Amino acid sequence: MRGVLALLALLCLAGCDASPVVQFKDASITLPDDSDDLPEGPGRQAVIENCTACHSPSTMLQQPGVPRAKWEATVAKMITLYKAPVDPEAVPAIVDYMVAVQARQSDVPRETAR
Ligand code: HEC
Repeated sequence: MRGVLALLALLCLAGCDASPVVQFKDASITLPDDSDDLPEGPGRQAVIENCTACHSPSTMLQQPGVPRAKWEATVAKMITLYKAPVDPEAVPAIVDYMVAVQARQSDVPRETAR
């Protein structure tokens, strides 16, 4: 919300005098919509089987870099709060995968992180 306000303020600075109509150039975003967007790596299959039923890979991957304990808590939250049917045996592999993929994403641009 604050981002939107800041954007509006910027647009206003740039164009309010010239025109009272705020025009948004492009409001569309492209969301990756299948599991192919998960980078290769150990545990990828566990993530596909246990996590992608409810949300796209981008939901999981576009998180700020967080420590391992936070990923454990997140997976636990999916299970307890959202009733995700996650195989308990797969949890360590899922957490390993998330930590590894995030570490890779932090030092290479997303497009080449696959
Ligand atoms: C039963 C459905 C379901 C499954 C399966 C599921 N999630 Fe979620 N997940 C949710 C819901 C609902 C939200 C919250 C929706 C939102 O914030 O947009 C969420 C949000 C998230 C978020 C955003 C941060 C947060 O804490 O809200 C992450 C990261 C995440 N899930 C990871 C995972 C991972 C990893 C798995 C596999 C272990 C998984 N999810 C499986 C339902 C699910």
